[in-house]
Parts: sequence; C-alpha cells; structure tokens
Amino acid sequence: MAFDLVFFGGTGDLVWRKLMPALFQAFCHDTLPEGGRIIGVGRDDLTDEQYRQQIQSRFEQVEGDKRPKPEEFARFASLLCYVRMDLSKPEAYAALASRLAERDTDHVVMYLSTAPSLFTTVCEQLAASGLNTPKTRIVLEKPLGHDLASNRSINTAVGKVFKEQQIFRIDHYLGKPAVQNLFAMRFGNALFEPLWRREHIANIQITMAEELGVEKRGGFYETTGALRDMVQNHALQLLCAIAMEPPINAHADAIRDEKLKVLRALKRWTPETLSQHVIRGQYSAGNVFGQSVPGYRDETGVSAQSSTETFVALRTEIANWRWAGVPFYIRTGKRMAAREAHIEINFRPTPHEIFKSPMGHANKLVIHLQPKDGLELHLFAQGQSKRGEGSGGATLSPVHLDLDFDKRFGSQRVGAYERLLLDVLDGRLNLFVRSDEQEEAWRWVEPILQHWKNDPTGPRPYTAGTWGPSASSAMIARDGFCWSEEI
Ligand code: BG6
Repeated sequence: MAFDLVFFGGTGDLVWRKLMPALFQAFCHDTLPEGGRIIGVGRDDLTDEQYRQQIQSRFEQVEGDKRPKPEEFARFASLLCYVRMDLSKPEAYAALASRLAERDTDHVVMYLSTAPSLFTTVCEQLAASGLNTPKTRIVLEKPLGHDLASNRSINTAVGKVFKEQQIFRIDHYLGKPAVQNLFAMRFGNALFEPLWRREHIANIQITMAEELGVEKRGGFYETTGALRDMVQNHALQLLCAIAMEPPINAHADAIRDEKLKVLRALKRWTPETLSQHVIRGQYSAGNVFGQSVPGYRDETGVSAQSSTETFVALRTEIANWRWAGVPFYIRTGKRMAAREAHIEINFRPTPHEIFKSPMGHANKLVIHLQPKDGLELHLFAQGQSKRGEGSGGATLSPVHLDLDFDKRFGSQRVGAYERLLLDVLDGRLNLFVRSDEQEEAWRWVEPILQHWKNDPTGPRPYTAGTWGPSASSAMIARDGFCWSEEI
C-alpha cells in the first residue's frame, strides 16, 4: 500500500519528539506499509537531505538502546523528504501539490501538527489546490479549539472539505496499550461485567499525575491550563472507556456512539457543584525527586500574576441506570509527587463482616496506564492464623493479583503514536474521536471555564512535588473516600 504522509509543522516539537520516533519504530518492527514517503512541511529553507540530517541529529540525542543504528536510520531516512511552505500563503500549496503529483499512491495523509488557528486555512487551501481527494485522510492534533465555539468552527471548516470518515482526531491516550486493554478487559471477558455497576462499585478515581512542569511550553500553557490540556480530552476519554455500555460490535461508530452517550449523561454543573466539586491548583516552588524546582509563575513564558491552573481535581456523576450516584473523581496535575497514571475501581465492602478486617476493607481493581502498564486486583486473604484462632477470629491481610502487560507481552507492544499512525494508514477510526464526542466534552467543561473566569479567588497554590492542594483531599473526603496515596 503506497502512501504519502505529510506532516504540517514538520520541524515542530511533536514531529521530532513523538511522530518520527513512532514511525521509525514501526519501520523497525516491519509494520509500516511498504512504498511510503514521509513529507515534512515547514517554513525553514531546507533540502530533503538537510531535513534528514536534522532528524538524524535529534535521533542521536536519544539515550541507550533506543538510539537507532546508523544503517537502520539510513534505510528509514530514504523515505523522508521536505517541502518548504508558508501555510498562510495560498500560492505555497502548489509546491506540495507538485511534490504529491510525482507518484501515484493509495493514500495521502495530511497530519496537521500546527497551531489550531491554522487548521481552517490549511483545509481551505488543500481544497482550493485539489488536494482533498477521496484518497486523502486528515489527522488533527489537539487542542482542537479553545472552547465549544472555536471547536465547532474548526469542525465545521474541516467538515466542509473532508467527510467525517476521512477525519482522524487524535487523543494519544486512546493509543496507549493500557487503554486498549481496558476495552479488551471489559468487552473481551465476561468476568467483570456483572460487577461493573452502581450496586457493586463505590467510586471510581482517575489520576493522571506528571512530575514535570510546563517545560518549554509556558506560552502555550498560559492560555490552555490543565482543564483544557488534560481533562476535556484525555480524562474524559478514559472516563468513557470505563463507563460506556458494551458496543454492539468493534466498529468505530458503534464504540463512539456509546462514548457519546456517557458524555451526554455526565451530570450538568450547578453553581453549588461547581464551587464544591471542582478544585483548581497552581504549583509553587518545591522539590521534585530531591531537586528544587521553580513555581509555575517563575517559568519562562508565564505571567508573574498568572491564574492558569496546573492542577484540577473534580467529582462528577453519570446520570443513567448503571452509574447513578457513583462518584467519578478525576485528578490531573503538573509537578506532582510522581509520574503516574491509573484508574481505580473501588468496590463496595462486604455487606456483613465475619472476619477481623483491616480498616477500609474493600476490593479494588487498579488499571495502571503508566509508567507501569497492567492490572492489579486487590483482595483479602487469610495469612498464617495464630494458634487457637478459628477462621472467624483470623485477621485478613491485603494481597494483590498483579498482571504486568509489559512483562507478559514485552517487545510486541507498540507505543501510542505508533499504534495511532498505523491505524490512520489502515483507515481504522476506532481509536479516534468523532466531532460530536468532542463537542459534547467541550459543552461539559465550558461552565467550569466560565465559572473560573468570574471567580477572583484563582487557583489554590500547592507545593511542587506534592499531590496537589489540600482542597482536593477535602473534596473526596466529604464523600467518605480518599485518594490512593492517602490510605
Ligand atoms: C499532552 C499534554 O496532551 O499530554 C501535555 O498537552 C501532557 O501537557 C501530555 O504532558 C501527557 O501525556 P503522557 O502520554 O506523557 O501522559
């Protein structure tokens, strides 16, 4: 299957850090379809050879065994070429059109890894240059807009040029092996389904913590914040994967229809739930893994009076038969105590205790997304009982069933961007987000954004290297629960 894959923003950070390494991995795994060409598009004046060299020098900065061998890179580099373009200039698209006309391909993928403000222009110009043929697929990187209105206007503009089946909206969390395994665990096994409901589950917690700060992205982050950067997309997609009904089949629209129903059933905010159930925080200077780090307001590109949130914790509910009354907690932040993403399904305790049990005795399933990728089922068992103790007198001890997917599947596993890029080349939409899902997610977060805009108190400070402001613990404690590290 011959393809041309065009990276708009071809000299940008995402292409260097994620997309090229992912394609290179696919190339080394022999899963990249043959007959491919990868075309970087950017404003810099580069020849094909100079572009290859730039990528090679980035690859050489990679440490350890992941650094490519020169002969392998040379073979990969022969797929790369470069077109210089100023995307805002209509005449620039002719250069791309003539490069694409050099050969016949089965598919042309246009990957928009640029500022979203350019999405509309690029799509219009692709259409004006006749580059929106039925063979074309378009990939849109997040953030897709800043709010509901801007998201809609991008979707409308792209929708005028491409059909929904040609549009691949990326949420890289959906490409993570652990998230695909979540679908497999839920819908490929009958074991959990009867328990997967309000009668058996006390609460669900989604944590996506990063130990890093905003790094070099201060300027971008200032106008984005954690709610737009992580909650509107990644966290809600995880919530959908946990809470959706079993789809009728594994086709993209069957899955997306079920996710959409979850988003529609998320409880709407009231002034009371907004102020009590949504906590925003901002990191101040602190210590992360023994290193002192600056506060957010001292990061490059960040205003000294910034009120941008680097942390969000919230509580929501899903108003349907399966989940009514079960709290779902989401928490995400930068400069937290660890890099750790997991989902905890906390089951209800036994209805009647006949053993001596540890405090807070209840089963829990932990779905680890990163750095570990696996499942952990927390159970209680009887260890060695003391002399004279009947089973009724024995104390239960916590034990874990621990499944580590990295150990189990090892090198067969593919990373998120590798998976998603291969799916785009195959035309598989399952792991991509439909426009109505995205709009519904924006519709749900928008009242929070409005509320914060009018709330002069701003985010609560938390010390870098901690688990966020104490209000986050207080919020969950009101329901009689706590975050996992507080047990
Ligand atoms: C991106 C956000 O979407 O996800 C970043 O823009 C964040 O701010 C990143 O760091 C987290 O992704 P991962 O895969 O490292 O958890």
